[in-house]
Amino acid sequence: MNKSYYIETYGCQMNVADSELVSGLLSQDGYDETKDINRADIILVNTCAIREHAEDKVHSRLGFYNQFKQKNPSTIIGVLGCMAQNLKEDILESKPYVDIILGPDSYRRLPTMIRDRSSEKSHLVDTKLSKFELYDNMFPSRNTGINAWISIMRGCDKFCTFCIVPFTRGRERSRSIEGIISEANQAVSDGFLEITLLGQNVNSYNHAGRGFHELLDEVAQIPGIKRIRYTSPHPQDMTRKVLKVMAKHDTICNYVHLPLQAGNDRVLKRMNRTYTKSRFISLVNQIRDLLPNVGLSTDIIVGFPGESEEEFKETLDVMETVRFDSAYTFKYSSRPGTKAAEYADHVTKEEKQDRLERVIKAQKQHTLIQNQKLVGAVEIVLVEKESKRSVEHWAGRTDSNKWVIFEKEDTQIRDLVPVQIKHAKGITLRGDIVSIQQMEAVK
Ligand code: SAH
Ligand code: SF4
Ligand code: F3S
Repeated sequence: MNKSYYIETYGCQMNVADSELVSGLLSQDGYDETKDINRADIILVNTCAIREHAEDKVHSRLGFYNQFKQKNPSTIIGVLGCMAQNLKEDILESKPYVDIILGPDSYRRLPTMIRDRSSEKSHLVDTKLSKFELYDNMFPSRNTGINAWISIMRGCDKFCTFCIVPFTRGRERSRSIEGIISEANQAVSDGFLEITLLGQNVNSYNHAGRGFHELLDEVAQIPGIKRIRYTSPHPQDMTRKVLKVMAKHDTICNYVHLPLQAGNDRVLKRMNRTYTKSRFISLVNQIRDLLPNVGLSTDIIVGFPGESEEEFKETLDVMETVRFDSAYTFKYSSRPGTKAAEYADHVTKEEKQDRLERVIKAQKQHTLIQNQKLVGAVEIVLVEKESKRSVEHWAGRTDSNKWVIFEKEDTQIRDLVPVQIKHAKGITLRGDIVSIQQMEAVK
């Protein structure tokens, strides 16, 4: 019988994609994936180091995995990803039961390491970062039948002062357009309807002088592709050319994630974000001009070292001016090794909590206002899953990336259906499927 592995994934979509690569590697090497940790010969965790909280979660999971090893000492435990990169020494010292530690550029070595580990006593570690590893020509074992994640570039050279990613994932490098197109073609012929292009800095993609807009244009021409998304872009690299390509192709979703982080120029400068408040706002205006009804989301950090109350209020100002459709909001978390970790005057815990609550409250209002604008409109929704609340309802996304709940009627998962939005409550939209004729009438 083949040995089986169990893999748990934390962190961003790039980690989800990486876990699929790892699964692909292991299944090629004769291992079977199990969803039941009790039956696993190998337990892997793909980790994230972006905030302290993310690391704490993994530390407690490691303790939990160790219980399986105590029952069955031949179990192999492997820590993969950004935390492996970042906390190698700490793990080696305090978690002797961890067998394998592999950073994000070393996954090709995993099958060999698992074999070697069975005969050796010491830990096996490889956290060397590579300037070249792009995991081209690999066969990821993908998870769902709707969306295929495709990494188009790895690493990040932006060095925002709060962020650990440039240290955990190393230098920026891009795959060839040909490699990406061939993977996307494969995904479409495997039945995937949606492709999401991934990179920590996805729009600074550059291969042999060809930029993100060219890649996007080519992916959009793949026959049979229904939807294309991408994440995460950086405002600095959001060009008119990219927006024009988005406007040109219906298959590219009308949605942009544009991380603001903070609204005050002094804070933005200390974050090394490379744009100002007014530049950000004019970029939003440009996006909305070129892409009417675009869905806009953002990331916001509150309590960056030295952020005063007045400066924080400018974040609320920008939110009010822009009115994002949704936002991921975070309390600043100091990451040892980053520049901001050396900055003095950290904002107190209580202050951070208070600011977080204020941005969440503002965002809830904005989400509702933005969603209410859609009431009455007919949106094309991709049926993705059953609603959590009722077996009679589907949940699907509009191309502007909003979730809509509606009665199933005769439709199936994977259908693209016209749904008339009936009401917006909290952050959820509800609607009803309409016929093509009804859809024309609304237009
Ligand atoms: N590369 C992407 C996002 C990377 S991480 C980008 O530049 O947009 C996702 C989000 O985590 C960031 O946008 C930021 O808002 C948040 N983040 C990163 N480091 C953080 C830290 N040290 N503390 C709190 N939030 C952080
Ligand atoms: Fe981190 Fe900034 Fe790079 Fe995003 S762009 S991954 S926030 S350093
Ligand atoms: Fe986390 Fe690494 Fe992604 S730190 S957010 S898993 S790139």
